[in-house]
Amino acid sequence: MFTRRQFIATSAGTLVATALPHIARADVKNFPFAEFEQRIARKDFKGMTKDMLPTPCMVVDIDLFEKNLRTMADYAKKTGISLRPHVKVHKSVDVAQRQIALGAIGLTTATIAESELMSNAGIKGVLWTKQPASVNNLMRAIALTRKDPTFMFVVDDPRVADQVQEAAAAARVKARVAVAVYAGLKRQGIENGRPAVDLASRIMKSKNIQLEGFMAYSGYASHTKTFAARCKKSQEDLSGVNETIELARKSGLPIGIVSGGSTGTYNMDKAFGLTELECGSYVFMDSIYREVGGQSDDAVYTDFENSLTVLVTVDSKHHHGQVSTDYGNKALARPTDTVKGKPWLKVSTEGAEYGILSWSDAGGEEPKVGDRVEIYCSNLDMSTNCYDRYYIAKGNDIIDVWPIMGRSGAAQR
Ligand SMILES: Cc1ncc(COP(=O)(O)O)c(C=O)c1O
Repeated sequence: MFTRRQFIATSAGTLVATALPHIARADVKNFPFAEFEQRIARKDFKGMTKDMLPTPCMVVDIDLFEKNLRTMADYAKKTGISLRPHVKVHKSVDVAQRQIALGAIGLTTATIAESELMSNAGIKGVLWTKQPASVNNLMRAIALTRKDPTFMFVVDDPRVADQVQEAAAAARVKARVAVAVYAGLKRQGIENGRPAVDLASRIMKSKNIQLEGFMAYSGYASHTKTFAARCKKSQEDLSGVNETIELARKSGLPIGIVSGGSTGTYNMDKAFGLTELECGSYVFMDSIYREVGGQSDDAVYTDFENSLTVLVTVDSKHHHGQVSTDYGNKALARPTDTVKGKPWLKVSTEGAEYGILSWSDAGGEEPKVGDRVEIYCSNLDMSTNCYDRYYIAKGNDIIDVWPIMGRSGAAQR
């Protein structure tokens, strides 16, 4: 016979255990949630598992991540091409340090703030892949040059080259500059041939600038579907760059580096003239990259593993064929996202903090309220930009937390 108190305790327990079975698991219930942030600050992950994490959050499978890093590093070593990976996709010093430890000669960055972050963390050979067009960017690029003489950046405009010369002379430093040339992407890069070589010569003649070579990023090639079509596109996009290199060498200009390439074209661009690769997405991969196809399979790109997921919670279920989640617009949910291990679920959004997972009647198992689901995001650059940390997982266990470049402390992103 139950006492009233026992009855209430048992009913409550049964309710939780039935409706939200994962929450009723003893290890989860007993975790000191009030200390969650303190635990992370002191890197005490004892007993912390994926099912305890606040959602939506980014989770990195450490084994797959390390495999990706090794695959790219081994390829670079084997083929004799340098690796200067792009950090825009991860914005993480922890990731960058691991890339360097495996042989990367430096990093490429999209913003001066990323460059400062990586250089200030002691990483040498940072190449900023945009030109310093504003006074703010220019003065910071020069200040970083003074602090870290291995820092480099690009220029694609003679006026900016002159401004760099003036600012570098005033600061009594020698700026290291590569000329950004057009490689099929109409957002950056001076015209190949004579205009590019004239700019390189102008830089050569500038007392306070050292010419490093060229940067040629063939961004459209990176996501061209099928290996054969991608190879063709990359070769076409880099053909003008090769003419520029030839003309520059004939003009007696020292061309040290030709930087470019991407996760999609890493295994073709050496033949098309690049001396170093700026690949970024390979560390985590996203759902859109997965579809570009590879050498062995035209439909799926399997060279690198999807090591990053967004962990989300199913938080309401009232309508046929769908559940709601906490993965909405603010978390950058996209209809092109895919669900790990549950390909029958489709992702959409229903507001800032509301996402939808839907399925047809022919689909597999239906998600339940309280379930955790892992999503492969569509575009790493965009998604990682709106999260603050990566939870690093070994199986179900959280073994580390790596900060993503912060929004508030970062002198702009
Ligand atoms: C200039 C530049 N280089 C390299 C990359 C890296 O490309 P991916 O992430 O496709 O490897 C990017 C990404 O957009 C880029 O903008």
